[in-house]
Amino acid sequence: MAKHTVVVMPGDGIGNQVLPEALRVLEAVEFDANYVHADIGWECWCRKGNALPQSTVDLLAKHKLGLFGAITSKPKKEAEAELSAELKGRGYSYFSPIVTMRQKFHLDTCIRPCISFPGNPLNFIRKNAHGGYEEPFVNVVVFRQNTEGLYAGVEWTNPSDQVRSALETHPKFKPFTTVRGADLAVSVRIVTRHAAHKICKAAFEWAKKYGYKSVTICEKPNVLRETSGMMEEEARAVSREYPGISLWSTNIDAQTMWLTKNPEDYGVVVASNLFGDVISDAFAGLIGGLGFAASGNIGDEVAVFEPTHGSAPKYAELNPPIVNPIAIFLSAVMMLNHVGETEKASRIRNAIAAVVKEGKVRTYDMMRIPGGAKAISQGAASTTQMTDAVLEKIEVGNELACAAIGQESA
Ligand code: NAI
Ligand code: MG
Repeated sequence: MAKHTVVVMPGDGIGNQVLPEALRVLEAVEFDANYVHADIGWECWCRKGNALPQSTVDLLAKHKLGLFGAITSKPKKEAEAELSAELKGRGYSYFSPIVTMRQKFHLDTCIRPCISFPGNPLNFIRKNAHGGYEEPFVNVVVFRQNTEGLYAGVEWTNPSDQVRSALETHPKFKPFTTVRGADLAVSVRIVTRHAAHKICKAAFEWAKKYGYKSVTICEKPNVLRETSGMMEEEARAVSREYPGISLWSTNIDAQTMWLTKNPEDYGVVVASNLFGDVISDAFAGLIGGLGFAASGNIGDEVAVFEPTHGSAPKYAELNPPIVNPIAIFLSAVMMLNHVGETEKASRIRNAIAAVVKEGKVRTYDMMRIPGGAKAISQGAASTTQMTDAVLEKIEVGNELACAAIGQESA
């Protein structure tokens, strides 16, 4: 029997192109695992009225480890229009299966590393004061609270009288009391002390384990006094347990402005759900964008790893596929580290680093050319060719390791 079982959820669009490539890479390092397929995404919604079928929930509950590709999400009205005829008008509403999965399994810690690969032509380059250019080395890991905040899903258009009366107890609601129900939309930002503490603790633990000098809490406590205030309070409380690690505090708006000024100064960054989503995309933009952005959704029992990108429908039908599989490879690397297979994880990461540094094989995004059918004829590598290149470097790594063992024993 294999040591691990991974629930694989390709999902929609390019999720189906990149996920099989990740399995090839995992196989190359002889990850001892069984893979069980699970459905998720748009097709499930259209056919069954549920983008996260119960069978998938059961598999995740059983095996506790998932690798996910991407899904397609559409606004409420479009979602209803695409529902199969026999389900229409029967009260089904669309919910993002990823958000639902995070909430169902309490995947409350989202980890998004944004670390430059030397030689990546997409790395951020900054002009210096002397007219020259410099490429700061970005080594940031974003910790995003994954289940609460503005994504908790507590929201209404035309709130009930009960909700309205509750809101009216707040003096700041006064200007809105005369707004017609149909013209009033409310989303609630919920932060609990327990979750705030937990995400800050996870961020500091990571900083300690991997030698980061600082943890930055990125919120907006001067305006969002209650929710951001509680995040900041917990960050301060946790920081007292880690005397060797500095706690910095930035506001989300200012942080996005400073992002390009001194990204090399930041280490671990911690934020609530929406701000974590924003700031992790912002940092990812400095290290190569969606083709390089990986993430892990970690709960106490279940963990699911996924590239940050979506289903990129406009490229989903291209044959050969052109999208960059490195984001899902890095997600697989995170999965290996999570289950303690750190040596296998390093072999994949080193292989990716070698391919990027060599610069011979680059997908269209790395060449800064438009995506589409023409990309290949313009010299871009296909998705599969990128995997082949990584596999080749893994092979070279294996041979070097064998040679080293041979020398030791000689
Ligand atoms: P997207 O991430 O799917 O694609 C945006 C653009 O980024 C693409 O058109 C492409 O130019 C580029 N891109 C994405 N992945 C790439 C890769 N691996 N290599 C090279 N280039 C890549 O975001 P978009 O277009 O906003 O959304 C498309 C669908 O995906 C929507 O239905 C959206 O709701 C969904 N989505 C799902 C996510 C998830 O599954 N976690 C996350 C983001 C969006
Ligand atoms: Mg995002």
